[in-house]
Amino acid sequence: MNGYLIRAATLDDAENIFRAHKDSVENLCTADYNAEQITMWLDGRSAEAYREAIVAGNLWLAQDEIIQGFVEIDGHEVSKLFICGSSAGKGVGKELLRLALTKIRNAGYAKAYLEATVTAEKFYEHFGFRKVGEGNFSRGNSPVSIEIIKMELDL
Ligand SMILES: CC(C)(COP(=O)(O)OP(=O)(O)OC[C@H]1O[C@@H](n2cnc3c(N)ncnc32)[C@H](O)[C@@H]1OP(=O)(O)O)[C@@H](O)C(=O)NCCC(=O)NCCS
Repeated sequence: MNGYLIRAATLDDAENIFRAHKDSVENLCTADYNAEQITMWLDGRSAEAYREAIVAGNLWLAQDEIIQGFVEIDGHEVSKLFICGSSAGKGVGKELLRLALTKIRNAGYAKAYLEATVTAEKFYEHFGFRKVGEGNFSRGNSPVSIEIIKMELDL
């Protein structure tokens, strides 16, 4: 699929990035995480959450009429990669991941790190990432947590 543009996000995109994030989690992750976990994941999140990364120039998105997905980096970490349900499986995630890895490599890092959802573990394996650990993610004081897989790639 080539009918989309990949570009750096601006602060005006923050609300739509939040919508894409929510859409992705609610449509693509429900086979791996239950309703309680999905609610915890999105609880208290808003457009504000993307502000710092946008200002730092660390967030890029794929867009046609809508934002189809976005990727965020933080140092050597691919800290977010989320594709909307209707845009999944069309190569958008691959393009955004490649961009993030290029940025990390160009910043001088020899390894990329990420904490994958169970949903995305095989996707990252497809690109050579290997599992280096496991963990749990939770927000605030929530007793609910989600399992994540720590992964690395030599660049
Ligand atoms: C995981 C995710 C980012 C993948 O993005 P996508 O746009 O659907 O994937 P693409 O269409 O770019 O797939 C690229 C390649 O990965 C492969 N792939 C994608 N998902 C895969 C999976 N679950 N298992 C194995 N391979 C997979 C595709 O077959 C494709 O292979 P090819 O390049 O040889 O043709 C996306 O589905 C998503 O946002 N999921 C929900 C949110 C999430 O868990 N994000 C990760 C947070 S760490």
